[in-house]
Amino acid sequence: MDIRENLQKISEELKQELLAIATVQELEALKVKVLGKKGSLTALLRGMGQLSPEERPKAGQLINETREQLTALLDEKQQALALKEKEERLLKEAIDVTEPRDLPQIGAVHPMQLVLNEVLDCFTSMGFSVAEGPEVELDHYNFELLNLPKNHPARDAQDTFYIDDNIVLRTHTSPVQARTMLSQKPPIRIVCPGRVFRADEMDATHSPVFHQIEGLVIDKDVTMGDLKGTLDAFAKRLYGNDIEVRFRPSFFPFTEPSAEVDLTCFNCHGKGCRVCKGTGWIEVLGCGMVNPKVLEMCGIDSKVYSGFAFGIGLERITMLRYGIKDLRLLFEGDLRFLKQFR
Ligand code: PHE
Repeated sequence: MDIRENLQKISEELKQELLAIATVQELEALKVKVLGKKGSLTALLRGMGQLSPEERPKAGQLINETREQLTALLDEKQQALALKEKEERLLKEAIDVTEPRDLPQIGAVHPMQLVLNEVLDCFTSMGFSVAEGPEVELDHYNFELLNLPKNHPARDAQDTFYIDDNIVLRTHTSPVQARTMLSQKPPIRIVCPGRVFRADEMDATHSPVFHQIEGLVIDKDVTMGDLKGTLDAFAKRLYGNDIEVRFRPSFFPFTEPSAEVDLTCFNCHGKGCRVCKGTGWIEVLGCGMVNPKVLEMCGIDSKVYSGFAFGIGLERITMLRYGIKDLRLLFEGDLRFLKQFR
């Protein structure tokens, strides 16, 4: 068989086999079979040694031409296969944008925020404005200006987180009173909501981080009657007209006289139960007439002005509002709990 016929045969076979090829791997194998080191075309090239010197150039040219043709055919097939595989892959990866998806979880306003909003509404409607102060506070504002000098025994009642000798995490919102009196002239009417800190264990009624809402009124002729009236309006607005408010004498260094205020127990409505420890009452805030010493230290003439202050426990009144029996629920972020406030 002469070279021309051989080449013809190799070409025909390759074209035939190409038709049946479906994958890149199969194509690779065919390439090796024809053009590889032991391939049929390569064998022809090797066989050229046996030809006469006159025949060689012609045969070489023929073989190379065929080689180029076959390489072109293989490349073409290779591209076609690559395109097909890409199309198949894209088809498999396709996203159906019309497919319905899981609905996102919708959040709810935290119950403490709900109650805070109500409280702020209540006080702003009575002419109070909202003030704020820092959570990391100077000892000076947190204690000294509130008539709690260093070594005062009443400091022990507030298990303070000290940053250093002069800086604390505020143990109550009362330092905002001092800051406001120093920066504003009477008449003053503010409420100050905020986070406070005490070195307490966490249990059903205690947390090292909790929230208070401070109130302060300074004007001429402010009396304890104004304080009672204000707190009575607050309690009735939040819990209904039948709610009872009880003042108990108490002590705070920054108010004189001072009182603790109880509301009718939400759980037993005053009959006495485990929540109110059998008393029918729940303590929700401390208050009193601003101590004249504090007024003077904060630059207000105590012969002209008087005032009252109160500090409400936000967790307490939230639990009272919704009948929540464990304080920890307010901090855990459990969706089963939070969803109930939608
Ligand atoms: N600061 C007091 C406390 O945290 C509460 C309070 C505020 C009492 C204002 C009287 C007046 O216990």
